[in-house]
Formats: sequence, C-alpha cells, structure tokens
Amino acid sequence: MDIEKLQRFNSAYEGEYPFLQELGSQWARSKPLEGFRILHNIPLTRETMLKLEPLYLAGAELTVTHLKLPGLAPKMECADLLREAGADIELDHDRISGEYDIALDCCAQIPSMKNVTIRRGYVELTQSGTPAYSKLNTTLPIYSLDLSKLKCLEGMFGTGEACVRAIKQFIEPELSGRKFVVFGYGKVGRGITRYLSREGAEITVVDSNPTHLEHAAATGHATERSAGSPTLLEAINDAFAVITATGHPGLVQELFSPSDISDDVHLINMGADDEFGEGFPISRVAANKAPLNFMLDSPTVMFFIDPIFAAHNRCCEHILAGGASGFTALPAALDMPVVEAWSKRYNIDVSDIHY
Ligand SMILES: NC(=O)c1ccc[n+]([C@@H]2O[C@H](COP(=O)([O-])OP(=O)(O)OC[C@H]3O[C@@H](n4cnc5c(N)ncnc54)[C@H](O)[C@@H]3O)[C@@H](O)[C@H]2O)c1
Repeated sequence: MDIEKLQRFNSAYEGEYPFLQELGSQWARSKPLEGFRILHNIPLTRETMLKLEPLYLAGAELTVTHLKLPGLAPKMECADLLREAGADIELDHDRISGEYDIALDCCAQIPSMKNVTIRRGYVELTQSGTPAYSKLNTTLPIYSLDLSKLKCLEGMFGTGEACVRAIKQFIEPELSGRKFVVFGYGKVGRGITRYLSREGAEITVVDSNPTHLEHAAATGHATERSAGSPTLLEAINDAFAVITATGHPGLVQELFSPSDISDDVHLINMGADDEFGEGFPISRVAANKAPLNFMLDSPTVMFFIDPIFAAHNRCCEHILAGGASGFTALPAALDMPVVEAWSKRYNIDVSDIHY
C-alpha cells in the first residue's frame, strides 16, 4: 500500500480534522496495529479517506469496503485512488472472505457476511447497528459508538447545524422571527432548535416525553404535547415550517389529516423514515421526504465527525488490550475526555448533551 499516495490525496481536503491527524502522528510512531487484519465497512466518502490514513500508518492490514444501503453509492474517486495506491478494496460484500482481527463496522453488516470470521472484536458506528449487535452471540468485545456522549457531537450538533444550513440554502435564507414547530426533542431535535435559535427563529417543541418538554420550556421554547390538539394544529398553521425528528414513521398523519395543514407551511423531515406519513404526497414535503440535510454536499461537516471517526479507530487498541466482553459502551477514556477536548478546542458549549 502506497500510504503517501493517500496522504497526498488527503492533503487537498478542505476542512479540519485535528483528532484524526493527531491519531495518525501517534500511530505512525507506535504502530499499534502492525500485522493485525481489519475489515472496514462504513460509507466510502472523501471523509472516510481521512479516517483510513491513521489505520494504514498504524501498520494495519486493511480490507476496505463500503456500507451497503440502497441509493448510497461509494465515492468512486476514493475507490479508484485506493486501488491505484494498492489498497485491498472490495465493494461487493459477498466477495469478502477470510479471518480478520477487528471489524470496524456500520449498521452491523459485518456479522452477516457469510465468509468472514472476526477473531478479536467489533466496533459499531451507528444507532442502526444496535439491534443486531446487542443480540450477537459472542463474548468478543463489541464497542458501540452510539452508547456515548461523543456521538452527540454528530447527531446533535452536526445534524442541527446541517439542518439549518439546508433550510437556508434550499428554502429560506432569512430565518429571524420565523416560527418553527419541531417534533422531537431528542438528540437531533435539540440540535436543530439550538441552531434555529441562533438564527432568531421562534420555536414550538412537540414531544411525547414530559421531561423533554420541561427541558424545552426551560430553554425558552413554547411546548406542545404530541397529540391531535387544536392548539398544536394552530401552532402548525401559524408556523413557517414544521420539522420532524422523532424516529416515529407517519407521526404527523396519526395526529392530523394532511388537509388540516395549510399549504403555506413548509414541511421538513429530518428523521430516517417518512415522519409525515403516506397521506402527505411526496412533493408536499421538502427533499421528497428525505432528511433535508442529505441534499447538502456535506450532510455533516467534518469537524463534527472527526473525533467520532478517531474514536472508532482508537477502539482497535482497546480490543487488542482485551477487557470488555459483549455489547458495550465506548470506553470511558474515549468519551467525555474527547468531548471536552473538542469543546475546548472550538470553544463550543456542549452542556446540552447531558439530558
Ligand atoms: N438527518 C440526519 O442526518 C440524522 C442524523 C441522526 C439521526 N437522524 C434520525 O433522526 C431521528 C431522531 O433521532 P434522535 O437521535 O434525535 O432520536 P432520540 O431518540 O434521541 O430522540 C427522539 C425524540 O422524539 C421523541 N418522540 C418519540 N416518539 C414521539 C412521538 N410519537 N411524538 C413526539 N415525540 C416523540 C422522543 O421522546 C425523543 O425526545 C431518527 O429517525 C434518526 O434516525 C437523522
């Protein structure tokens, strides 16, 4: 593998990634993964190339593949570059076989690769991998990035920033004084309200969890219980836009008929599923019901994902050191200390993640 070729490619990247850079410098010296076989399965993007560099510098024998999801194509310029550099890259999961020490995974796809055996442990990047990994019958360590405060940097701040950036780019650049109804005050909803507030927007938060509504009220937002009430409908029809981020498919349609909602109100989905419901025509919801930030060139800016990618890689050292057994949270040393370092570096208040 010609690591310098990858490094030249990465040096042209515009954006900050100090956590991965620091990891690369450390691992280039200590080579902690020398001779260990790693299977790497996350979306193959420009940002993923930055994540791969420290793994190569650490001496890992990597096989790189791409997350298998309908409609999610790998960045071919990245695949080509890796091939030219002599990397072991195989985009077809069915053609991957053999024994690996560590699985660096996303959406729990590696355990279902029929011809692959993992000898030492797994690291899962997303919430979507939780059901499969929490049930995997193994005593090997399985670290879940989703079981961490660190993941909030992406899900809460990164997605919130991206949602507001997408609204300004695709719907309306001037948000000051505009009214929004935001369904869901979890990680994503809190991030969205945080960035909307900075634009001077007025927000009504809707949630089914009374504690979450109390938090929203304490932050200064109007609140509504998630029910088909006249006051909620009035807030919706008085709003510039409704944004959904609950993880509950078809939620809005369960509460109101599509015809109850004025055509003037913008409808924006940020959830992975269609949270408005089939009764709402696809064209009625921004981005044809896809999460609005997916329309952006950078659905999440690198500086939010950088520490998470670095932690995903760093879990390899924890696996090789032994320790955890079965499905478990991110090692404590990779969680709050990293959140605090990120917060300090960028002077960003992260107190919202403690709820
Ligand atoms: N667009 C993106 O880039 C992006 C990124 C991360 C997650 N997501 C998606 O966003 C959605 C929310 O994710 P999250 O991490 O914030 O989840 P979360 O579990 O942290 O928060 C969900 C919130 O919705 C509330 N809720 C649940 N059911 C509800 C209902 N029926 N009515 C009103 N409120 C309800 C919950 O009480 C909670 O406050 C998921 O679909 C997730 O996959 C999107």
